[in-house]
Amino acid sequence: MAQVTKLTVNGRPYTIDADADTSLLSVLRDQLDLIGSKYGCGEGQCGACTVLIDGNARRSCITQVGSVGQKQITTIEGLAQGDRLHPLQEAFLEEAAMQCAYCTSGMIMTAVSFLRTNPNPSAAAVSHSMEGNICRCGTHPRIVAAVLRAAKNGNPSAKESGQ
Ligand code: FES
Ligand code: FES
Repeated sequence: MAQVTKLTVNGRPYTIDADADTSLLSVLRDQLDLIGSKYGCGEGQCGACTVLIDGNARRSCITQVGSVGQKQITTIEGLAQGDRLHPLQEAFLEEAAMQCAYCTSGMIMTAVSFLRTNPNPSAAAVSHSMEGNICRCGTHPRIVAAVLRAAKNGNPSAKESGQ
């Protein structure tokens, strides 16, 4: 019998009806209609399903919903502030860092988590941090450029030092 679980997603409380071992991704997509997180491999290998759990990038396809009831979950739908896009969303648009865009939400969520702890990264560090996210369209170079742009835009000290 399914269990009732409470979740907090994008700052909103939800009560869902699912077994504790149901994947967070399927709950987000099928019960909460938050379809920005994508199903790619379903095995934690591609990053298309990446969300933030307490601010850290996690693969929602291999996260059991029963393990995140006390945590803050953020999906791509929760990044913008009203009409104002998150700096990473803006940077991805400015760099045209997507083709089919299937990987994009996972890329952005991974980058949000990375920049939180690495606000002024090198190109090599950005490239390394995004290696676990697969883009079949070959847009990795533009993705790296977008993350660097967001770091610069969102970090006044980087701008001031001309980096
Ligand atoms: S769908 Fe989750 S890592 Fe591929
Ligand atoms: S833009 Fe198509 S998979 Fe990345």
